[in-house]
Amino acid sequence: MNFDFDLVVRSFPLLLAGAGITVQITAISVGIGLLIGMFVGMARLSNIWLLRAAATVYVDFLRGTPLLVQIFIIYFAIPIVIGQRIDPFIAAITACGINSGAYVAEIFRAGIQSIDKGQMEAGRSLGMSWAQTMRYIILPQAFKRIIPPLGNEFIAMLKDSSLVSVIGFEELTRRGQLIIARTYGSFEIWLTVAFIYLVMTLTISRLVDYLERRYKIDDKH
Ligand code: ARG
Repeated sequence: MNFDFDLVVRSFPLLLAGAGITVQITAISVGIGLLIGMFVGMARLSNIWLLRAAATVYVDFLRGTPLLVQIFIIYFAIPIVIGQRIDPFIAAITACGINSGAYVAEIFRAGIQSIDKGQMEAGRSLGMSWAQTMRYIILPQAFKRIIPPLGNEFIAMLKDSSLVSVIGFEELTRRGQLIIARTYGSFEIWLTVAFIYLVMTLTISRLVDYLERRYKIDDKH
């Protein structure tokens, strides 16, 4: 076979626009994930039994079922209950965001647990509340340590966001499928799609490296 390079060139702008949408879903989803994850992660360590149980159920359910099935539940099952269609974009970021929250929760829990418990005791003995100690002493230290796993989560989500192509949402993977349906250029298009994903994940890796270095330098002062 011969590689139709012209097809790659012609499809590139469409694929790049798809990649932009992929980045958008990923950023919003991990953003939602960070917010949920921070609270669920702390809830997992709470003294309040009910809070701990709820957080555990959340993590178990979302980590224990496939993201693909969660997307189907949100896009196809929930509309039957609420009697209203859900926009594919909203369904995509909801599914990915809620899912990411479970993974981020575990990252936060591990990060918080890695901080010596004397830090909490010191804060409390200075008269700070649990929440204040968490906010001003524990979380800033934990955050530094969880940068690498958070970077992982970003990369994982960027790739797993391709699953929302199944509900017809036109991100990078879906665009690739649609172009192939018209041109039959499976080989050229899938390689190009893979290449674009790779460039994006490598970019995130470098960004995470940079953040890590920056915070290390801060440590010395
Ligand atoms: N592929 C796995 C699944 O289907 C992992 C989903 C990844 N999500 C994440 N937030 N890293 O459940």
